[in-house]
Amino acid sequence: MRIAGINGKENVLDICTGTGDIAIGFARKGAKVTGVDFSLPMLERANKKIDKKKLHGKIQLVHADALCLPFRDKNFDVVTIGFGLRNLKDKEKGFAEMTRVLKNHGRAFILEFSPPSASLFERVYSFYLRKILPFIGRAVSGNRQAYTYLSDSVKDFLSPQEVINIMDEFFREVSYLSLTGGVANIYIGIK
Ligand SMILES: C[S@@+](CC[C@H](N)C(=O)[O-])C[C@H]1O[C@@H](n2cnc3c(N)ncnc32)[C@H](O)[C@@H]1O
Repeated sequence: MRIAGINGKENVLDICTGTGDIAIGFARKGAKVTGVDFSLPMLERANKKIDKKKLHGKIQLVHADALCLPFRDKNFDVVTIGFGLRNLKDKEKGFAEMTRVLKNHGRAFILEFSPPSASLFERVYSFYLRKILPFIGRAVSGNRQAYTYLSDSVKDFLSPQEVINIMDEFFREVSYLSLTGGVANIYIGIK
């Protein structure tokens, strides 16, 4: 199976890698992956997972800010960012950095939640985000605040069309794939 058209020879950059799940997924398909995050505790957790899965030769972890990537221009075939775009203080700068480090014709895959809109399903989703998620989050992790942040940051995030409009400024081709009735989307940009 190919993920994101990965053929095993590609050089992948996973921005906002967190505990490394996306980086690990690509490394398992044979890609050479660099994972970047500005949180050292997240990178330490990623490192433990990578160790456990014996993927050390395949994944390099780098402590850096997505808004100022320490890589040369046109270095990567694929750039990914999973549930990180929402957190970037300056989305335009984030996209400028992604396209700077991508080779020409390189692809960016951005996985992100969408704010609920007016459909019945999305009103139910909105209720889940506001009332149920923080409750479950507190029960599981003891940290209600983190889940309230998650819920607020999703509600306040850009609509798919707004994300596309920004991406249009940076990529020559942009599309998106709606997941789970629009709860999340994969945005695809080709440089
Ligand atoms: C919700 S987690 C997502 C982690 C992972 N991509 C996943 O899908 O599980 C968001 C991550 O983005 C990182 N992050 C947020 N802003 C960042 C920035 N400006 N530069 C680098 N990492 C950032 C956070 O430290 C956190 O680990």
